[in-house]
Amino acid sequence: MNNVGILGFGKYVPEKIMSNADWEKLVDTSDEWITTRTGIKERRFVEEGQGTSDLGAEAAKKALKDARLEAKDIELIILATCSADYRVQNCSSLIQKKIGAVNAAAFDIQAACSGFIYSLTVGKALIQSGMYKKILVIGAESISRLVDMQDRNTAILFGDGAAAAVLGEVEEGYGIISSYMGTEGVDDDTLRIKAGGTLYPATVERVENREIYLEMNGTDVFKFAVRALPHATKEAAKNGNVNLADIDILFPHQANLRIIESAAKRLRIPMEKVYLNIHKYGNTSAASIGLAIGDALEEGRLKKGDLIALTGFGAGLTYGSLIMRWSK
Ligand code: UT7
Repeated sequence: MNNVGILGFGKYVPEKIMSNADWEKLVDTSDEWITTRTGIKERRFVEEGQGTSDLGAEAAKKALKDARLEAKDIELIILATCSADYRVQNCSSLIQKKIGAVNAAAFDIQAACSGFIYSLTVGKALIQSGMYKKILVIGAESISRLVDMQDRNTAILFGDGAAAAVLGEVEEGYGIISSYMGTEGVDDDTLRIKAGGTLYPATVERVENREIYLEMNGTDVFKFAVRALPHATKEAAKNGNVNLADIDILFPHQANLRIIESAAKRLRIPMEKVYLNIHKYGNTSAASIGLAIGDALEEGRLKKGDLIALTGFGAGLTYGSLIMRWSK
């Protein structure tokens, strides 16, 4: 079977910075509380008129340039997002139009913060099946548009951004080795937006009750995450016959520094091998792992031949992990 890996990578974050000090002016919170409980110092917010598709398109253009490919070479776009520009239509079609990927089909994957891992897994399988040769996988989010700016419990955690990877065949010994995806289905207020879907359409009353915003039971999600992250990583390693001690860099979903530290401890992976940029961007959902990879590349920390594990969890509740040998 052919080896599938990353031919080009790109990331993009909006320019507007929202710091903890900015949050102090809006809700009853403090830089000290946010820093010690989450590790977040600042995040990026989209501007008025800027959509998730704009972020995704910018990241995609960089990934194509990095892969030395043109948009017309892409046969499929898979976008991981839970903050699409519109309720209907798929956001990946907007990106297809913006970058001019005229030969590409496009669809979205909604698996919240696990979306980038799910999308890479689907993309790899489609290439290995022989159906496609070049697939653009994007994780892009504007979660700042979905949070209740009056809710200090939830809103301060999130930010916006995008990352993109061109997937294709790579040389022997490199690329995606294995992955694992899991779901523990819930139908409650653990982590969701209740109104605005088909079961509870957005009415004036529901808007006034602020049901159109993200609601979360932080403690429940925390407990799930510290269990799911190590489990998924171990399963992916097992699937690929990989020894966890051989992992060079772990890229966890950047949701909360305490969750990441707990997962690393359970996996016996030292924090020096764990990539962190949560202080810069907060939780950017499906963009978070890609933004971490993008920063690690810019810093020269991620190099060809490195064995890396990506691991994430999110609404659904979904979780997953993917192991690859970096091929660029
Ligand atoms: O992609 C997945 C998305 N979600 C997550 O990953 C979330 C996972 N959960 C978490 O990260 C944590 O549960 C939180 C960061 C959300 C909360 O941290 P915590 O240590 O579990 O705090 P808590 O919810 O137990 O709240 C402790 C106190 C409460 O006050 P009382 O009841 O003890 O008086 C909260 O009201 O902190 C209060 N609090 C705040 N105080 C200042 C909650 N949010 C804030 C805030 N600023 N922003």
